[in-house]
Amino acid sequence: MKNFELYNPTNLVFGKGQIAKIKTLIPADSKVLMLYGGGSIKKNGLYEQTLAALEGHEVVEFAGIEANPEYQTLLKALAVIKEEKIDFLLAVGGGSVIDGTKFLSSAALYEGDSPWDILANRIRTVKGMPFGTVLTLPATGSEMNSGAVVSRKETHEKLAMGGPGLFPQFSICDPEVVRTIPQRQLANGVADAFTHVLEQYMTYPTNAHLQDRISESIMQTLVEVAPKVIADPSNYDVAANFMWCCTMALNGLIQKGVPTDWSVHMIAHEITAHYGVDHARTLAIILPSAYHHQFDKKKEKLAQYAERVWNVTEGTVEEKAKLAIEKTEQFYQSMNIKTRLRDYTEDYEGFAGKAAQSLKDHGLAKLGEHGDITPEVAKKIIEMAY
Ligand code: NZQ
Ligand code: ZN
Repeated sequence: MKNFELYNPTNLVFGKGQIAKIKTLIPADSKVLMLYGGGSIKKNGLYEQTLAALEGHEVVEFAGIEANPEYQTLLKALAVIKEEKIDFLLAVGGGSVIDGTKFLSSAALYEGDSPWDILANRIRTVKGMPFGTVLTLPATGSEMNSGAVVSRKETHEKLAMGGPGLFPQFSICDPEVVRTIPQRQLANGVADAFTHVLEQYMTYPTNAHLQDRISESIMQTLVEVAPKVIADPSNYDVAANFMWCCTMALNGLIQKGVPTDWSVHMIAHEITAHYGVDHARTLAIILPSAYHHQFDKKKEKLAQYAERVWNVTEGTVEEKAKLAIEKTEQFYQSMNIKTRLRDYTEDYEGFAGKAAQSLKDHGLAKLGEHGDITPEVAKKIIEMAY
């Protein structure tokens, strides 16, 4: 096992009726900017619940943070923060609103020329403006980690950022929010969380038995709850298990002491940047071909995963490992998620080359647990996924 430090200061407040606790979690004298997306919170009662919990606080609102939060929109929110002298941010939304808020937390205190540099130059944020979140969509784990991803349409860029200053001070996770999530977003949430676990697990054996077993148990639980939550999101117990899996999949715990991959995400971000495909679906496109390409290096862990998550008992390591990739692809498909780029666009010829160039331009030239996924290899993986 590798050496590690585990630091996670987020106060995770989980369960029914917990939104009311906001009033005790935000300092009374703060001026709060409440940030949200395209309006789902106005249809499901979360808007009223949050405002009621903020009673007594001075509150300004910023609406319209879109899926795959857009840099130009966030610049407008940044202007509001400065004009209104905001000192606390409250994100009410899914990964996009929370990530946008993390960018703003960093940008609000950034002293450089252009806040885009935080993303382009991968500047780690050590101190940001304090913020909390009310999670409305289990998927990304952003509610309990310090990473964010921001998109810029005009340049077809989608870049990640982070740093120890970007953990939410608190996150409220009330599984009752799951009730109103459309099927497509529920499937996305399961697929994203499942892939997060794989990115931190599907490398090579390192005798990290507990990390392996926590990862496997998150995946087993997701396999169990996926069809149930998609069929009936109003089942509280199922929703609660789904929500906790998504948080645990990417709150930093399972990556401690082990090698991690993340090449699937980095390559997949290029698809969203170019075509606007939902994040989770881009993962389902890239992962099977990435694992086929890296088969020899990943086969031991693939076989272990086949045995422990998919109950495969027969066959050689290679046979089990192959089946593991098939089962994963079928799992995405079972949730109505298509796993080829051509399922999403007819205009894919030449994309692999452009994506490879973009990875190179952004210094993402040595991806994967061995650092051997160069832009040329990424190009091959994308072509295999056409
Ligand atoms: O905008 P509104 O109207 O709120 O609608 C949203 C949005 O259209 C809707 N929604 C959210 N909660 C709902 C709801 N609809 C009904 N009922 C509810 N309770 O769902 C749509 C998608 O929301 P979004 O926030 O975009 O989804 P998600 O949580 O999947 O976030 C995706 C973003 O997170 C990034 C992705 O790249 C993408 O930009 N990621 C962030 C990570 C992180 N910070 O750790 C890691 C991930 O790998 C990922 O990259
Ligand atoms: Zn993801």
